[in-house]
Amino acid sequence: MAFIRDAWYCAGFTVGLKAGELKPLTILNEAVVLYRQSDGAAKALADRCPHRFAPLSKGKICDREVQCGYHGLRFNADGHCTHNPHGDGSIPKAATVRAYPVLERHGALWIWMGEPAQADPGKLPDFSEVEQRPGWTRVEGYLHVRANYQLMIDNLLDLSHVPFLHPFLGGGAPPPPEFRPDIRMETQGDAVVAISEFHSMPNTPLYQMLWERGAPPDIVDMRANITWHPPSMLMLDTGAKPVDQPREHGPSAPIAHWLTPETETTTHYFWAQARDRFVGNDEVSAQIAAGIDGAFRNEDEPMIEACQQNMGTADLMSLKPLLLQTDGPAVRARRVIQMKLESGRLSDR
Ligand code: FES
Ligand SMILES: [Fe+2]
Repeated sequence: MAFIRDAWYCAGFTVGLKAGELKPLTILNEAVVLYRQSDGAAKALADRCPHRFAPLSKGKICDREVQCGYHGLRFNADGHCTHNPHGDGSIPKAATVRAYPVLERHGALWIWMGEPAQADPGKLPDFSEVEQRPGWTRVEGYLHVRANYQLMIDNLLDLSHVPFLHPFLGGGAPPPPEFRPDIRMETQGDAVVAISEFHSMPNTPLYQMLWERGAPPDIVDMRANITWHPPSMLMLDTGAKPVDQPREHGPSAPIAHWLTPETETTTHYFWAQARDRFVGNDEVSAQIAAGIDGAFRNEDEPMIEACQQNMGTADLMSLKPLLLQTDGPAVRARRVIQMKLESGRLSDR
């Protein structure tokens, strides 16, 4: 299965890459090592020395370079060998490793897996909604999921599973039709927006907990509008408010989901959530982080992994799955990925 290469993929959180650390990570089936130069800049190289193919992540950082842990060749952030401690010290032409452009933004590290000349920071969608900023508190987390990344996109673009799979997030039962749900899809260029807005529905445990100002109402308006950006980044705008009042009158808890394929059947899943209630309250942060992590880890992940196992292939469409009306956004996203892969193949010729 091919991956879209000319794209930014999340490679971790800014705070997760410490000075002096060589962090191995497999992305799109490629072994990569991430590190910070002595000036703090985040860099990425192929995790494979061209001499005996030792993982560079088993070496060490020397100022702005990585020294291979086996025979000591040193490589700079462009992937060029700058030091050979052997023989006359000459540097063979072939002494290079692949270097990947890295961007640090929105509290995360982003790696460009395609042609370096195409690595335009402007191609990263805006996720400033989940940045740590005045009036908001952010929590973040990571899961390793044994499933193809597109199954995760399907899961997030079809939130009709929430009442069935997530009692804490969704209240434990699907809202009856009299709550006038507004469920529809929009497209914005390549992006797909799955809109789910509920008028006058029973409040959920999550929003009862986040209702900082006064007693939480039993009945609220709720939204869970999720935007997918190719290849695998999603932004969920979610919140609850008193019926027919502006959104600022209730809590908002936007959450970004950054999916990075590790292999065809495994995915790095990074998430970051900001909230505008109980700002700076560490106890609430811990509760929220545990709630989100628990929902993904104990509810989504086992289900998606079980689906992946049952499928026996990474290619869902080859199995001709039953499609429901709620599958519209996920099917659209799959089409966009397919079109991008096909146009990439054409431009490669
Ligand atoms: S394997 Fe890296 S220097 Fe020999
Ligand atoms: Fe879910």
